[in-house]
Amino acid sequence: MKIVRKISELRKWLHEERKRGVKIGLVPTMGSIHLGHISLVKLALRHADSVIVSIFVNPMQFAAHEDFEKYPRNEELDSTHLKSAGVSVLFVPDQGEMFTEGHSTVIDVGCLGKVLEGEFRPNFFHGVATIVTKLLIQVLPDIAIFGEKDFQQLCVIRRLVEDLNLPVEVLQAETVRENDGLAISSRNRYLSDEERICAPILYKVICSFAKDLKLGYSQEKSYDHWASHLINNGFCKIDYLEARDSKNLEKVQIANRKIRILAAAWLGNTRLIDNIAL
Ligand code: PAJ
Repeated sequence: MKIVRKISELRKWLHEERKRGVKIGLVPTMGSIHLGHISLVKLALRHADSVIVSIFVNPMQFAAHEDFEKYPRNEELDSTHLKSAGVSVLFVPDQGEMFTEGHSTVIDVGCLGKVLEGEFRPNFFHGVATIVTKLLIQVLPDIAIFGEKDFQQLCVIRRLVEDLNLPVEVLQAETVRENDGLAISSRNRYLSDEERICAPILYKVICSFAKDLKLGYSQEKSYDHWASHLINNGFCKIDYLEARDSKNLEKVQIANRKIRILAAAWLGNTRLIDNIAL
């Protein structure tokens, strides 16, 4: 596995690969590689000949009070995992390589980035959309893989790829979970032992909320019941627990549309997000 730190070097490698006619897959990450990331790599390898993984803890998607400084970073361990997963290139640019001085261009996907997560993290999707666009333009992969774990992020990326006519096929990978149902996340390591025991309840609640809606209960009634359940089981705040249209994330009353149940809730100082298809 080749480790590349400069865009110019990446371009050179891509130029040679393209001459050989290989299909290229890109998996963007912020590192702290876990089994969720590895499942994206495996999916990429099923659809592409060469896979590039990028690791870049993107300052633009963190608010001032968020965990940019303490976000877990371990390039050596990450590269060991990615190498054994079959990755061809690990692209690890530094801040200056991705954001030159005076950088001011922002990608804004409109409404899709303003609901749900966007309401609680106002500039988050500007940061995500801008860095993902930059990575997609640098690499111009045949395919790019994103996880359903961050379902709204996936919707935002599908939107920007369509809107900017980027010649990239976006593939989505199912959420990888711990045995007890907790969605694997780099931020799970922030949980105390006690919080870790409570954490899988979020997934159970989303599944129960979905079951209620299938049985015909109203969203309001189910929300009240399951939000109290979370609060009674160690969670201190619920940002949202909602059913939304799975393409444009608009509010839905249950009908024949494809629906996603999405939730975000706090356990102490850690914010967990999760979602499932209805
Ligand atoms: P990061 O949190 O490192 O996640 C990288 C990719 O892995 C995302 O597509 C995410 O949805 C996926 N992923 C994370 N946990 C997963 C799990 N348990 N199962 C399946 N897939 C999972 O998401 C980001 O980084 C950043 O916002 C990024 C897209 C790289 C832009 O900076």
